[in-house]
Amino acid sequence: MATTQATQQQTLRELMIEEIRDLYDAERQLVKALPKMAKGASSDKLRSLIETHLGETQEQVKRLERAFEVLDEKPRGKHCAGIAGIIKEGSDMLEEDFEGAVLDAAIIAGAQRAEHYEMGAYGSVIAWAKQIGEGEVASLLQLPSFSSECTTLACGSVRPVFSPRATGTSMTPLL
Ligand SMILES: [Fe+2]
Repeated sequence: MATTQATQQQTLRELMIEEIRDLYDAERQLVKALPKMAKGASSDKLRSLIETHLGETQEQVKRLERAFEVLDEKPRGKHCAGIAGIIKEGSDMLEEDFEGAVLDAAIIAGAQRAEHYEMGAYGSVIAWAKQIGEGEVASLLQLPSFSSECTTLACGSVRPVFSPRATGTSMTPLL
C-alpha cells in the first residue's frame, strides 16, 4: 500500500505530539524530583546548579505548553516511564550509604542520565517539527543545557577520588 507524503507528514505530526506529551510529563516529573536531589547534595556548588536547573526545567514546561498551543492541542502529558525509571534509580541512590563528594558524584550521574534521555527526545522532536514545517514548535523546544555543566562538575568531583594517580584519601576539595 502506497503511503502518500501527506499521510506520512500527518503520521509524523502525531508521533511528534505523542513525544511532546512524553517530554511534558518528563519535565514535570523532574520539577518534583530536582528539589529532592538539591537537598541531598552536599556541595553548595552542586546544590545551586540543581536549583538553577529547576528554574530552567520550569521554563521548559512553559515552552512545551506554548508548543501545545501552537499545535492547537491540549497541554496533556503521557506518562514517561523512561524518566520515571531514572528518577527512581536516583532516589534509590540517595537512600544508600554514600555521603559527601561520592554522594554528589552519584547525584551528578543521575542528573546526567536524565538530561541525556531528554536530549535524545528533544533532538528528535525538533528535527520532526522542522520536517513537517512547524518551525515555531522547533524553536520553542530547546535542548537542555544542564549536561555540559554537569560534565564539568563530574570531572572535577570524580577524578581526584578515583584516578589511579590520585594520592591521599582526602575527599573534601572535590567540588
Ligand atoms: Fe519518555
